[in-house]
Amino acid sequence: MERKFVFGVAVSGYNFTGRKAETERLLTDFRNGVNVILMSPRRLGKTSLVRHVCGLVSPTELITVYVDIFGCKTEYEFYNKLAAAVLQQTASRKELWLEEAKDFIYRLSPKISFSPDPNIQFSVSLGISPKTHTPEEILSLVEQIAERKGKRIVVCIDEFQQIGEIADSKQVQARLRSVWQHQQRTSYCLFGSKHHLMGSIFLNRSMPFYQFGDLIVLDKISTADWTDYIVTHFADGNRSISPTLAAEICTLVDNYSAYVQQLSWLVFTLTKEGDTVTRAHLQAAMNELLATNDILFMQMVEPLSEYQMNFIRAIIDGINDNFGRSQVREKYRLGSYSNINRLKKALLERDIITVKGDEITLTDPVFGKWFERKMMV
Ligand SMILES: Nc1ncnc2c1ncn2[C@@H]1O[C@H](COP(=O)(O)OP(=O)(O)OP(=O)(O)O)[C@@H](O)[C@H]1O
Ligand SMILES: [Mg+2]
Repeated sequence: MERKFVFGVAVSGYNFTGRKAETERLLTDFRNGVNVILMSPRRLGKTSLVRHVCGLVSPTELITVYVDIFGCKTEYEFYNKLAAAVLQQTASRKELWLEEAKDFIYRLSPKISFSPDPNIQFSVSLGISPKTHTPEEILSLVEQIAERKGKRIVVCIDEFQQIGEIADSKQVQARLRSVWQHQQRTSYCLFGSKHHLMGSIFLNRSMPFYQFGDLIVLDKISTADWTDYIVTHFADGNRSISPTLAAEICTLVDNYSAYVQQLSWLVFTLTKEGDTVTRAHLQAAMNELLATNDILFMQMVEPLSEYQMNFIRAIIDGINDNFGRSQVREKYRLGSYSNINRLKKALLERDIITVKGDEITLTDPVFGKWFERKMMV
């Protein structure tokens, strides 16, 4: 049975809504071999969008490869993941991919292990190391496959911010860019969250990936798209919700994708077949949403210093810029002028705040609501 509302994993089909303009833009980029950089705060829908677009192109038109590099700590861990994904996902017959890949892996002894996860049949570690392949050999593999097949390939790399955290990151980035930029048949879609990391890779003039491609900062899904989605999904579950209350669900969580689905689900579970949703249901569900996230948010604030907590208090009170002003520093007890930059940096690194131009906001709106209730003294 289809779940009415899904949160926490990438969504598709029945659970996917909106994103028309972004889908078109990505499709056009993919079809024309334009590199894409896609960034947004966590849980807004990057993975869902890219997978959606990959599902729309037919393999006769172009081949898409998807790889998630979360957890890669070294350059060669990254190469192993990349090569395995490229070999598996470009093979013409899935079961024969090892056979097709033998030119590349004859120097290796791949280990195949069966996964306890029923959704994944097996995982492969190719065992690529500096002794078996140079970075250039691995990075050229995809282009060679594209040439052999006479097709374009788009390689989509999820959680790309991880590249910023591996050892010798800048050199690795320079190596990737120098190979990738000369490839004719292969293009890349690089996406991830944590604005400060993605920003330091792509928005910094002195870094190799500066101006690498079409930069897309993912927006929130519009209230109109959400309202349609929520109203019809309630109706599918034999419940009714007015467009006004559906729109209020969005407002309560500032249109933050995962939370819109989670809050809708909580409202759904508070009602029975035949019910009509009321504002009281929304209030109760919102309380539950805050309660569900309590442990998570507690963990977020636990390591913070009193100064950092005060900084968050100031934002919740509506201060969004010029934290260095003496009235602001005194009122919120933020310490000296020079302390402000340190506080900003620490909260950015924890992804608690987002900086756009001069404006500072909290990254997670529900965290903001929780903080306001629990931590404002
Ligand atoms: N287009 C969409 N339609 C409906 N719900 C969506 C959509 N995109 C995202 N969501 C909601 O947001 C949640 C997170 O989506 P997704 O994993 O794609 O985001 P992400 O930006 O890749 O997150 P992360 O930063 O954690 O990798 C989904 O589980 C779903 O609840
Ligand atoms: Mg994702």
